[in-house]
Amino acid sequence: MIYLDHNATTPVDERVLEAMLPFLSTFFGNPSGLYRLGRIVRSAIDQARQQLADLVSVSPEQIIFTSGGTEANHLALSQAEMSAQLWISAIEHPSVLETAKRYYPQFSELLVDVSGKVEIDQFAELNFKENDFISVMSANNETGVVQDIASLTASVKQQGVIFHTDAVQALGKIPLSFNDLGVQLMSLSSHKIYGPKGSGALVFEKGFNVQPVLVGGGQEFDCRSGTENVAGIVGFGKAAELAKQAIEEFQTILTLRDCLEQQLALIPGVVIFARDENRLPNTVQFAILGVDGEMLLMQLDRNNIAVSSGSACASGGGEVSSVLLAMGVDPQLAKGAIRVSLGRQNTESDIEAFIAVLKEIISQI
Ligand SMILES: Cc1ncc(COP(=O)(O)O)c(C=O)c1O
Repeated sequence: MIYLDHNATTPVDERVLEAMLPFLSTFFGNPSGLYRLGRIVRSAIDQARQQLADLVSVSPEQIIFTSGGTEANHLALSQAEMSAQLWISAIEHPSVLETAKRYYPQFSELLVDVSGKVEIDQFAELNFKENDFISVMSANNETGVVQDIASLTASVKQQGVIFHTDAVQALGKIPLSFNDLGVQLMSLSSHKIYGPKGSGALVFEKGFNVQPVLVGGGQEFDCRSGTENVAGIVGFGKAAELAKQAIEEFQTILTLRDCLEQQLALIPGVVIFARDENRLPNTVQFAILGVDGEMLLMQLDRNNIAVSSGSACASGGGEVSSVLLAMGVDPQLAKGAIRVSLGRQNTESDIEAFIAVLKEIISQI
């Protein structure tokens, strides 16, 4: 199979699996245990926290491990409880959007321009009040468009707002330094960087008093109770360590992506979304005029090629991408959206095979 859906998830790196396995067998102890077995497990969690901290340039005490990006986003947005107003961008992942809808139905939307970016001048003119909570993702899961978070936070620095960014897609794909972004909260997930699923983290600014959603045994600095998912955390840590070493790989991936886009652009009717924008090096989202995205996806699948049709939610599609609609893309065109997201294992021959199959499918329509 040619797997071209790395923004949905990545395979677990063998070295990650190797690091995890002892914590599913020999070292099964509860990290809260005061005896040797517990202490060994605790120190493995400490090491993972350090590995992740190194990747995003923070201190380990600024990291709360969670059950994934969704929980990290949920925990982040729960900090808006005391805020006068919640603002989220119009292109957020459902784990932010649905949390906002459920708990803060009066939330305000931050509009994006045709390239999918929160427009800085318009943003700076908004009337934010002290303690307002703003959530803008670092990079979009569908288009790959990277937001200029540092400029956004700088423009509202004086207003005393709380700024959260969902950096789940940015992690490991572009350099990501928490302090440089100027945010108070940042969500991360392990399974997008060759770590296990069901493991994530919320990073918080020093001095930020995170209020827990899950209370109980007081794990994770009293911010997220529950016996730790030890193997998941150890795997996330290892994946973070490997991602830090491998960030240059994305230059190679970018070259592959550019080659893919050049070939795509030659196909009549192809529209590549946000092509001129700063995007994640591995992501391209496109549509072909008059061609249904779901049909294309299924035909590609028959040819053993895995891609995604826009927003990869559990329901598996059928809906038009809200991200593209927010960018003003025609709904009919948006319905045709296909996302290709490359990863470490992809090669030039994968791209060639993809283009060949795509052309073959189109020729039969
Ligand atoms: C931008 C973004 N945020 C959050 C999530 C949710 O992360 P998780 O699957 O770890 O809950 C995803 C996963 O697709 C995502 O792409």
